[in-house]
Amino acid sequence: MTDPWEAHAAWWQAEFTDGADPEYVEQILPLIAANLPSAGRLLDIGAGEGQVARVAAASGLDVVALDPAWRQVSVGQERGSAAWVQGSATSLPIADASVDAAVVCLVFEHVAALDDALAEVARVVRPGGTFLFLLNHPLLQTPGSGWIDDQMLEPPEQYWRIGEYLTEAMTDEEVEKEVFITFFHRPLHRYLNGAFAHGLRLVRMEEPAPPPGFLARAPEYFAAATVPRLLFLRFERV
Ligand SMILES: C[S@@+](CC[C@H](N)C(=O)[O-])C[C@H]1O[C@@H](n2cnc3c(N)ncnc32)[C@H](O)[C@@H]1O
Repeated sequence: MTDPWEAHAAWWQAEFTDGADPEYVEQILPLIAANLPSAGRLLDIGAGEGQVARVAAASGLDVVALDPAWRQVSVGQERGSAAWVQGSATSLPIADASVDAAVVCLVFEHVAALDDALAEVARVVRPGGTFLFLLNHPLLQTPGSGWIDDQMLEPPEQYWRIGEYLTEAMTDEEVEKEVFITFFHRPLHRYLNGAFAHGLRLVRMEEPAPPPGFLARAPEYFAAATVPRLLFLRFERV
């Protein structure tokens, strides 16, 4: 089977990079920029076409970007600002304790072997180094979650349905016509305990509200404007 990220790299790049996506422009990239170390070497794991890597490079960091999909790596090389490696988060071709920081932005929800991937982050980040970890919020973006407007009840009720939060699940989601992407849902404690087990200490957490540019494009989400879509975690390597 073709890797969905190889097959759909062009879709991702057109819809979510290079200024196309308000969540990246207004929220994700500024949040990462505000939490980067001031100097050193940064590894961007699952870098896509490199939009996070470019922000890090622009702030003066020495950046290595890694992705398994050649169609992401080749576009990333054209767009510039980082040294590129084709590879997987579960087996990083990077020496032990050789980077000052790692960033994983919207990647591990697509990776089956979570514990291997977290172990690899912990192996390559030097003691005292930083790990920035961004996820689709695992509590509030569970499969089956969403805004419910129940007009059958008296009085009518509107609420956010959580879905099957505690059930770990792999889903092939049709995110757009004929674009299927594999997602792994896990409860939040799986991510946190996995990170703690590998010597990563949580030092900051953010659950930002969806930014205005996203709400302007997604009126169906407007009533759920206080339900975060993103989870941001900053760890320190012990
Ligand atoms: C949603 S995109 C995010 C790209 C980039 N981090 C960004 O925020 O712009 C997910 C990326 O994860 C990559 N990916 C999927 N499986 C991976 C793995 N096992 N190791 C590293 N990256 C992986 C995909 O190729 C894809 O580029």
